[in-house]
Order: sequence, then C-alpha cells, then structure tokens
Amino acid sequence: MTSFRISFCCTNTDPEPWLAGLRTAFPQAEVEVWQPGVPPADYAVVWAPPQPFFDEQPQLKGVFNIGAGVDALTKLRLPSNAVVVRLEDAGMAVQMAEYVCQGAIRHFRDLNAYADDVRAGQWTFYKPRQRRDFPVGILGLGVLGARVAQALQHFEFPVNGWSRSPKALDGVRGFSGAAQFHDFLASSRVLVNLLPLTPETANILNRETLGRLQPGGYVINVARGAHLVDEDLLALLNSGHLGGALLDVFRTEPLPAEHPFWQHPKITITPHTSARTLRSESIAQIAAKMGAMQRGEVLTGVVDVGRGY
Ligand code: NAP
Ligand code: GLV
Repeated sequence: MTSFRISFCCTNTDPEPWLAGLRTAFPQAEVEVWQPGVPPADYAVVWAPPQPFFDEQPQLKGVFNIGAGVDALTKLRLPSNAVVVRLEDAGMAVQMAEYVCQGAIRHFRDLNAYADDVRAGQWTFYKPRQRRDFPVGILGLGVLGARVAQALQHFEFPVNGWSRSPKALDGVRGFSGAAQFHDFLASSRVLVNLLPLTPETANILNRETLGRLQPGGYVINVARGAHLVDEDLLALLNSGHLGGALLDVFRTEPLPAEHPFWQHPKITITPHTSARTLRSESIAQIAAKMGAMQRGEVLTGVVDVGRGY
C-alpha cells in the first residue's frame, strides 16, 4: 500500500497509545497529532475536533469518529468529499446492555429503596412486582438499542422498540416513525434512550412525551443530554408521575456542581460512562475500515451527514 497521512485530533484522549496502534496497523503511514499548520492528511481520527481542524483539511477522504455518536461532528462544517465513519459496537454494545439491564433491574427490584433502608439500619421488605407490569421501551433500535433489547429479554421483561424505519427484532414489539410514537410511549413504563442526537431527536424527552409513559415510569438516558429537557424531568418526578431516572449523559459535561440532578433523591447519575470507547477494539475496527477504504471497498458505519447519524 502506498504511503498516506493520518491526522489524530481527539479531545480528552491520551494520543500516544492511539498513535502507536495506528502506526502498528499502517507502518507505511505518517500518523501524527494535529496542530494548526501541520501538513494536510488523507484520513482523520477524531473525537469532538474544533472547526479549524476541518477548515485546514478540505482534502480529507475519510473521517473516523472514535465513538458511536457523531453529533459533535455534524454540527461542524465538514470537508465536502470526506466519508464520515462512526464506531459500530467495538465493545460498546455489551457495556450498554449491562448498564441498562442493571438500571432497569435496580428499579424493578426496588434495590435503591433496599439500599436506603439498609443504610438506615432497617430490615424491610417490598412487595414483589410483576415483570409484565414493567414493559421497557427502547428509543432507537440501532447497533446499541438492538443489543440492549436482546439483553433485557434474558430477564423476561416485555420489550418495545421505536425506530425511524420499521424493524423486526425477535421478541421485540416494534413501533416506527412519528405515527406510532405515542402508542410506543403508552405501552412502556421504563424508557431507555438510545437515539442519535439530531435536529429531529433533540429535546425528545420532555413533559409531553414523558407524560405519556405509564405511571411510575423510569427514564434511562444513555444517549445525549440534549435529548432531555431537564426541568420537565424534574417536574414529572416531583409530581410523582415518574418514579425515577438513571442519567449517564448531560447537556453540560461534567454536570455543573449546582445542577439539581446531583442531589435529587429519585435520580441516579453516572459520568458518561455507560459504554466507553475501548481503545484496542476501536483501533482494530478503524484500521480495518481505513484499509477497506484504501482498497475502494464498501464500508459499513458510514454516517449520512444530512440525516445526522
Ligand atoms: P445507530 O446504530 O445509528 O442507531 C440509531 C437508531 O436510532 C436507529 O434504530 C434509528 O432508526 C433510530 N433513529 C434515529 N433517528 C430517529 C428518529 N428521528 N426517529 C426514530 N428513530 C430514529 O446508533 P448506535 O450505535 O446504536 O448509537 C446510538 C447512540 O448512543 C449514539 O448516537 C450515541 O449518542 C449514544 N451512545 C452513548 C454512549 C454513552 O456512553 N453514553 C456510548 C455510545 C453511544 P433506523 O434504524 O430506522 O435508522
Ligand atoms: C459515546 O458517547 C459515543 O457516542 O460513543
């Protein structure tokens, strides 16, 4: 393979192990961290790069995002001929499945209430609840949503799924498009958000939509903070319509110290950690796709930038 250049521009990421992995995969390539003024590259490996990165590199052929969500890219002006490729699973799907299952199970089994009681020195029992009364609705049945749907079924929860186009997944009651959105919400008590953040899905978790969930609903947001209208969630928790929420993602990260989510008794937060990018799996996937692109082969995981995911 002829020589080519890879530019690395990932915020909050130690570059050295990534550079080493990419150099091992492509010994003939020049791989370096982007700084203003470095020679233009053929391919980019990025996470939330600044606009000047793309402004200096209109010649890029491929932009490889080291995460599944590309909302930090689609808001930028991208080189017109670059193919944008996102991670597909790369070890994230199993992490997401375990995170969502533990959240749904903690809620269903009253484990947070048991933990509070034990801390207070109380030996109490709660009435067992019926699994059939806890249908879980998954917003987004893509790579991660489909895996989560499969995992929840192992615990015998009824599972609903909502996607843009109709999907037939084993054991999942499928809903699609705007026309079936309200039926999907009314059929769900636990709501898991695994949608990409796009102009169509921003603020989708709001007073009107969450108000349609079955009473005592539980919200698990593992996609993006801008899907959720924070004050609407708080209002529905405080009114008692919602029973709780598990939030991994926030409009501003880190979550500001004064934000009410930190202290709310019905909210559990984690610091955007439900499905982490795993370096070696991700380098292997990116290297395989970069190689395929070099050979002119068709890739999966190519982002439709106009659609936003
Ligand atoms: P994906 O494979 O692209 O799946 C996206 C799903 O959302 C698809 O089923 C798609 O429907 C559906 N969708 C998109 N727009 C829609 C709309 N307007 N109406 C209804 N359905 C719509 O994405 P993924 O790999 O599963 O990742 C999903 C998201 O998870 C990422 O975008 C990212 O924000 C988030 N994420 C979070 C973490 C974390 O640590 N918290 C880690 C990784 C990813 P179609 O199937 O019909 O296209
Ligand atoms: C993480 O949030 C990702 O999109 O991979």
